[in-house]
Amino acid sequence: MATKNAKSTDNTEAAMVILVTGATGQVGRRFVPRLLQNTAPGDRVRVLVRDAARGERFAELGAEVVVGDLRDTDVLGKATAGADAVVNVAAAFRGVPDEEAVAVNRDAAVELGRAAVASGVRRFVQVSTGLVYGSGRGRPMVEGDETVPGGTMWGAYPQSKWEAEQALVAMDGLEDLRIGRLPFVYGDGDPHIADAMRWAPNWPAMQRLHMGHHADVAQGLQRLLYAPGASGVYNIADDAPVTTVEIFQLNGVPVPPEVYEKEVPDPWHSVMSTTRIRHELGYRPLFPSVWTARDAGAL
Ligand SMILES: NC(=O)c1ccc[n+]([C@@H]2O[C@H](COP(=O)([O-])OP(=O)(O)OC[C@H]3O[C@@H](n4cnc5c(N)ncnc54)[C@H](OP(=O)(O)O)[C@@H]3O)[C@@H](O)[C@H]2O)c1
Repeated sequence: MATKNAKSTDNTEAAMVILVTGATGQVGRRFVPRLLQNTAPGDRVRVLVRDAARGERFAELGAEVVVGDLRDTDVLGKATAGADAVVNVAAAFRGVPDEEAVAVNRDAAVELGRAAVASGVRRFVQVSTGLVYGSGRGRPMVEGDETVPGGTMWGAYPQSKWEAEQALVAMDGLEDLRIGRLPFVYGDGDPHIADAMRWAPNWPAMQRLHMGHHADVAQGLQRLLYAPGASGVYNIADDAPVTTVEIFQLNGVPVPPEVYEKEVPDPWHSVMSTTRIRHELGYRPLFPSVWTARDAGAL
């Protein structure tokens, strides 16, 4: 077990026990194996899963597995005991009622923060979404922008993620907090691009979507987890937001003519600047555009 809050004699950080929530989700199931491949020497990874059977593959890869629900404070105490870092990937937003989104994305994230403080966890990485920015900047969103969550399309999800961010920022004892705001994540067999056909027909042809491949989301989260001086919010995304037309093209579906007739209310919606993470943490997307990933067979 790592000694808490200690530095080794060569001034590198002491080995960490890293708790990852949401390991069974689209992001987590691709992030955890990458993390296990790339941990610093001596680090250990612990995952929180709701279903023991679905935790087995992580145990086979070398992770410790804690079984339980994020809304159960006893589980949070157990999951954070002896941990040095938390990466809170878990969220409820795929087809859940608003109450559950708020309970998991805000309330449970805040309770997890409290449990982390109580357990002496020294670093907390909160996974959030670029949707917290809202619309109407006329330029890519930067981390210091005022947040304008809302809109009807995503329900309570952006607001609940934003409230979690705020509560964690304000939390006493959670000094080393890093927040990663993700774009539309795809790749490695994730059906997300195919799922986009549910809403793409309602979008204007020139509306853009900022994306990020799972490999690059994992890269960004690992940089947040490990960079010694990182602090606050970092956008994580690729270099080339796509248009609605490209979403159709990626799915091999003809673009309906009416898509070309719609006006774009905000051409910058979802588009995030990645300058901060590039300059401060050395992030460079392995897949700068979804087309690079397509050509590499990495969709
Ligand atoms: N995917 C994207 O495009 C995208 C974009 C922006 C931000 N994000 C952020 O990235 C993170 C991961 O998203 P995702 O796409 O991987 O979501 P997902 O596929 O829906 O996975 C959600 C994960 O959270 C877990 N979870 C949900 N409720 C829980 C609870 N009550 N107790 C314990 N675990 C619970 C789920 O466990 P079960 O498997 O048991 O349900 C699953 O592991 C989220 O924080 C999300 O806000 C994702």
